[in-house]
Amino acid sequence: MFVAGKIFAVIPAAGMGTRLGAGIPKAFFELGGVTLLRRAYESLVAAGVDRVIIAASPDMHERARLECPDAVIVAGGKERADSVLCGLDAIADQLGHEAGADDVVLVHDAARALTPVEMIQRLMVVPDGVDCVVPALPVSDTIKQVDEQMRVVGTPARAALRAVQTPQACRLVTLLKANEAFQRDESGDFCPTDDASLIEWFGGTVVVAPGDERALKITHPIDVVIAEHYLA
Ligand code: CTP
Ligand code: MG
Repeated sequence: MFVAGKIFAVIPAAGMGTRLGAGIPKAFFELGGVTLLRRAYESLVAAGVDRVIIAASPDMHERARLECPDAVIVAGGKERADSVLCGLDAIADQLGHEAGADDVVLVHDAARALTPVEMIQRLMVVPDGVDCVVPALPVSDTIKQVDEQMRVVGTPARAALRAVQTPQACRLVTLLKANEAFQRDESGDFCPTDDASLIEWFGGTVVVAPGDERALKITHPIDVVIAEHYLA
């Protein structure tokens, strides 16, 4: 049992890496001889996270256990959000931890393997009155909103737009409640694309903090070239 005020991290690492096309689940792709998963795990541990939970496909569990010895390893789900939920469930089910008001969970993509430790540490303190802190960068493109006919229906002011990264630091109790509410919701009106949007939908307060170019999500082969440049 933990006392209140623990910092957990959930790493969704159960994706196939189809766009990267490396022939293995992306979390186990090696960058400079070290897997993306191990890099993400070690930076969370270095930042001072108390427990790390990894959601990975079962055939990769042995490998994950070797690379991330102190992590709790669970099976992932069909979509990223399902994998995150599997990881969150493990906090109560496998660690026997009852969520306290000051517990924080960082949800962090294995694919953002080069996220600097200092950036993670900046996110770990969730201010009073805030439910979630997300790292963000200004956008350089102008963004258009379109309808189903590809007609432009709006151009949001770029100065007010941010591209968000992970880890997203959430109050554990809020993220659990938001997930419960979402699972009960039958309207089908809302499709969360990150953890913060679930908290926004639930009515929580989300703020942004400075992100970092190095926290890029390694998605396509070109991202490996960029990541290798950051490593060099
Ligand atoms: N992820 C997961 N479970 C899924 C899908 C994705 O845990 N069912 C994880 C990935 O392992 C990754 C993160 O969510 O760390 C972000 O997803 P993405 O970059 O899309 O990775 P993949 O789904 O592996 O890549 P692709 O979409 O190209 O197959
Ligand atoms: Mg994916």
